[in-house]
Amino acid sequence: MTGRATIIGTGSYLPEYILTNKGLEKIVKTSDEWITTRTGIKSRRIAGAEEDTSKMAAQAATRAMEMAAVSPLELDMIIVGTITPEMVMPSCACLVQKEIGAENAFAFDVNAACSGFVYALEIADRYVRNAPDMKILVIGAETLSSRVDWQDRNTCVLFGDGAGACVVTGSNAEDGLLASQLYSDGRLWQLLSLDAVPRRYCPAVNYGPLPDRESQCNGSAFNMVGKDVFKYAVREMGDAVENLLKREGITVADIDILIPHQANIRILKSLAERVNLSFEKVYTTIQKYGNSSAASLPIALDEANREGRLQKGDHLLFSVFGGGFTWGVMLWRW
Ligand code: ACO
Repeated sequence: MTGRATIIGTGSYLPEYILTNKGLEKIVKTSDEWITTRTGIKSRRIAGAEEDTSKMAAQAATRAMEMAAVSPLELDMIIVGTITPEMVMPSCACLVQKEIGAENAFAFDVNAACSGFVYALEIADRYVRNAPDMKILVIGAETLSSRVDWQDRNTCVLFGDGAGACVVTGSNAEDGLLASQLYSDGRLWQLLSLDAVPRRYCPAVNYGPLPDRESQCNGSAFNMVGKDVFKYAVREMGDAVENLLKREGITVADIDILIPHQANIRILKSLAERVNLSFEKVYTTIQKYGNSSAASLPIALDEANREGRLQKGDHLLFSVFGGGFTWGVMLWRW
């Protein structure tokens, strides 16, 4: 028996605290007008002290499992896309497993920046093609506010926190993941990066001259060449969408809804224009939540689903782009 991934439940969680552009004006030299016209963002959610990445992920997961009518003990696997786990070890996915009591699952994280959720979905799809009965929890969750430099107006205005999840299983019906393509290009890493904790050097070793990390990464939190990220995001996501549709023999007119990574409203408008898709078919949450990296697409998916925007048989496109660079596209029949 072979199958393909199908999504049987979605869920999301957003922190209570809303930081508006007006609120940001009190933190850095910026304005509601600048942020709105350059990014489309009006507000973002900021996690409180108790709202760790894994806690938000578990809340989103619980909502997705309720919709799917799947209990924690039925789960076989948990994958979390995140670049802001509260610990490097254990993984965020293991903490989610503990939090929800999914004792029969194995769990791990995927780091593909803003593309993490789609990378995780791709892995889930490969598993259910061989074992269609598997129940897999796929999550995107981030606490970007914990890593942002709140003095850097170039980046701090863009990001927000939250989590989104879905339950995936195998299907032999018409619905599910029809096609996908993932990409990355590590040569471009310096255009968008986030430093890890500093490396420690063993006193017994003569390392010679140490790499000048300061000049590579400014020594700050997020490092971003915004204009280049913008340019590559539009071009690569556009090419990826066009290539996948061509390969599958599907026209843009056949697409009912595009649920993209929410980075910047201007990126999304340029993408829609480039692939000739009416912007009305692009689902956006960027105005309310800013860019929550791997969490942004599953949050948008859950909202679209709960609003009734997704009808059975609809063709959905997922399109993502993030640090690495990483990017990808997925075509679903709902
Ligand atoms: N408030 C006010 N002024 C600001 C702010 C701010 N928050 N940030 C930058 N400025 C200033 C700059 O210093 C610059 O001033 P200067 O001309 O005196 O030097 C001026 O505004 C113009 O800056 P630009 O870089 O020209 O602005 P641009 O139109 O390129 O917009 C932006 C910047 C929004 C970052 C855009 O380049 C962008 O969205 N790029 C994509 C980056 C992205 O999405 N990153 C997210 C992570 S990756 C991902 O999720 C895909």
